[in-house]
Amino acid sequence: MARIRKNFVCQSCGATTGKWAGQCEACGEWNSILEEQESRHPAGLGKVSSRLARGRPIPLSDLEGEEAPPPRLISTIREFDRACGGGLVPGSAILIGGDPGIGKSTILLQAVGKLAANKIKTIYISGEESISQVRMRARRLGLHHCPVRLGAETNLRDILTTLDQSPGLQVVVIDSIQTMYADTVESAPGTVTQVRTCAQELIRHAKARNVCVLLVGHVTKDGQIAGPRVLEHMVDTVLYFEGDRGHQFRILRAVKNRFGGTDEIGVFEMSDLGLQEVENPSALFIGNRSGDISGSAIFAGMEGSRPMLMEIQALVAPSSLGQPRRAVVGWDNGRLAMIIAVLDARCGLGLGAYDIYLNVAGGVRISEPAADMAVAAALISSLSGRPIAKETILFGEISLSGEIRPVSQADARLKESTKLGFAQAYMPANIKHKGKGLKLIELDQIAKLVDLVAQDAL
Ligand code: TYD
Ligand code: MG
Repeated sequence: MARIRKNFVCQSCGATTGKWAGQCEACGEWNSILEEQESRHPAGLGKVSSRLARGRPIPLSDLEGEEAPPPRLISTIREFDRACGGGLVPGSAILIGGDPGIGKSTILLQAVGKLAANKIKTIYISGEESISQVRMRARRLGLHHCPVRLGAETNLRDILTTLDQSPGLQVVVIDSIQTMYADTVESAPGTVTQVRTCAQELIRHAKARNVCVLLVGHVTKDGQIAGPRVLEHMVDTVLYFEGDRGHQFRILRAVKNRFGGTDEIGVFEMSDLGLQEVENPSALFIGNRSGDISGSAIFAGMEGSRPMLMEIQALVAPSSLGQPRRAVVGWDNGRLAMIIAVLDARCGLGLGAYDIYLNVAGGVRISEPAADMAVAAALISSLSGRPIAKETILFGEISLSGEIRPVSQADARLKESTKLGFAQAYMPANIKHKGKGLKLIELDQIAKLVDLVAQDAL
């Protein structure tokens, strides 16, 4: 007989304790601990491990062998397929996280609509919206003729039975995993145990029936997918849908993919007709830039295997405050502090007395250290009031000693810059590249960059 065990689980980090507490010891969150019940079989493996009866030996195999690449279900939304590593793999589980209202339901409805139009059997289960709401959205997206089967349900048992009775099913969307409810577990929907149980069952179903299951996951206020971290371990692919509410574009980013590269991104623009693909993101991010304004530098960045040009804007203004203001949007605060310190200590710029604002245009977020040089150039340009020539791109990492360090994928960065009509590149010295069509200026010290901007030579 199954024994019911009581657990106290932190809803923020998933840590379990034996008793209730006001604050979680693991993550420090207040009022996040809830009582949850878990049914455990008395003969749990942990208890009997020392006297575990002998099992039968499993067949072991070599690393080498003939394995065909997994087949892919192609949605024909190229940016979506790219983020998934080249299409959906049958029998795989994909988790899509993102802020509320960012467009998760929209992109998935568009994807299953296109898949269904390509004769792939799909089911869309919404636990958040009614059938008529989903229908209205489909009409707006022009997908109402697509043969997607719709369901509005949150009961896991009923959903699994429905899926079982849908022969030939290939793709199913569960929107969202936090609304699903397994009646074997006594806690409320959205709690760690519920989320984990529902995800486990759905993934097991996906593997057993060779169906691709797409789970929508909510994110918490610090941007993690709500529920235990284990959810990310359970699925094959984790995608984050990012974007800035104030901007139209959205990025679908693969942070984990067992069937493809991570860091692959798909770029979309939210319009009245849903999410439109953006095939040339660089043009979008640096699109309407007027030249001859100080404090703006173009960074040739990489998003996964894809080069992307982005504009970095800086404003350096004398401060009247004891502690000058530092505001950063789209880049790392700590990294900006480091660049400022290097510019002050190695080049004597005296930025410490200024308010500094840094912004990555378009609402993109840059995480590459390769943006250091572009950030430094934008700061120097704003401080000196000298614009950086419009057709210049920059990339390179800055070390604490003030050296400019090489970065990877220089070729791809240079090629993208040439394609978009840029004429010169400021880049680290000593890297192998085949840059053609650009004037390459190789720098090894940050001080040289300062000289060049101050001389108006850029
Ligand atoms: P939605 O997909 O419901 O977000 P999520 O599922 O991530 O919570 O997206 C809703 C937002 O998208 C909403 O603010 C309206 C906007 N939107 C458009 O601008 N155009 C459209 O065609 C659609 C369907 C949504
Ligand atoms: Mg939604």
